[in-house]
Amino acid sequence: AEPRAFAPRLLGWFDRHGRHDLPWQRPATPYRVWISEIMLQQTRVATVIPYYRRFMARFPEVGDLADAPLDEVLHHWSGLGYYARARNLHKAARCIVDVHGGRFPRDREALSALPGIGRSTAAAILALAFGDREAILDGNVRRVLARHRGVEGWTGTAAVQARLWILAEALTPVERVADYTQAIMDLGATVCTRRNPACGDCPLAADCIARAHGLQECLPTPRPR
Ligand code: ADE
Repeated sequence: AEPRAFAPRLLGWFDRHGRHDLPWQRPATPYRVWISEIMLQQTRVATVIPYYRRFMARFPEVGDLADAPLDEVLHHWSGLGYYARARNLHKAARCIVDVHGGRFPRDREALSALPGIGRSTAAAILALAFGDREAILDGNVRRVLARHRGVEGWTGTAAVQARLWILAEALTPVERVADYTQAIMDLGATVCTRRNPACGDCPLAADCIARAHGLQECLPTPRPR
């Protein structure tokens, strides 16, 4: 029999096993989602949580961040690394206040125009905070999709990247977009891990092409060297 569609299986798994108590999920405002997504770009969840809490205590709203001296923003970032992220955060907060009147634009292009916000981060803000039907494609999602659909080739190439974006958009459901977005990130982080994926726990294993061929650990294809 045909396996049930991708999103319903993922959502069923998420209801039981996904992460529902991350600090940026309650409330999932655009500002809180944005800060968390930037912190999570190169840093794992357990490390991010205490930084996130201190950051939110000091800069509870985008205006507080925009008004703060850069030094103080960098101080709250110290230990997370990749300080360009903190500089961009401060710059983008200023743009949101000065150009957008202190409100996050609910618009892909306007969000992507902000410093440090790429296509996937813009989509994450729209999906997680506004519930808009936007596909994301971060490292975790790339791995899930490359394996499930058996996409070969280094994900750094434009062709592979384009294919993955098309898959990501096709699979994103109309209903429960925020939960779906969190679910696919959680699956990539906790089940469909880079090494030793827990395929026995995966709701998508029945029709996973990588699993059918025993290629889980070969996909996504690493950067050629
Ligand atoms: N990594 C990137 N975004 C994330 C999120 N919202 N939750 C958990 N891990 C993430």
